[in-house]
Amino acid sequence: MKIILGADHGGFETKEKIKEYLLANNFEIIDAGNLVYDAKDDYPDFAISVAKRISANEAEKGIIICGSGVGACIAANKVKGVRACVCHDVYSAHQGVEHDDMNVLCLGGRIIGIETAKEIVLSFANARFSNEERHKRRLEKVLKLEE
Ligand code: RB5
Repeated sequence: MKIILGADHGGFETKEKIKEYLLANNFEIIDAGNLVYDAKDDYPDFAISVAKRISANEAEKGIIICGSGVGACIAANKVKGVRACVCHDVYSAHQGVEHDDMNVLCLGGRIIGIETAKEIVLSFANARFSNEERHKRRLEKVLKLEE
């Protein structure tokens, strides 16, 4: 599976470690930046870039990391077709995909440690939408807002 990563300065270090981890776990990675640490960069630039590429089906899933995950999540959810959420626990990371078809995971590089982040990311990456009737019905109600 192909995953697009993005991060500002608040998430840069975590992104680099997560990239290495996902590559070691045989995922294909597109790095949407920032490609260097820049204390003055802005999270919307990377969040919107990842979100637009998810919306254009360049990859199935995206992961955006900023300081808290919050700004990235707000920005990404403005893009049609993107269902982003901050998840700092493993249960939400897979259940969000299984029930809600979440396609972008947002993390706070200043909030969680790298080992927890790795578990969350793997749980998100390996999860699949359940396609159960009740979840499809609920998702359709949400998707109607994009019409
Ligand atoms: C950057 O300092 C910080 O505000 C940003 O990474 C993020 O946490 C916003 O939600």
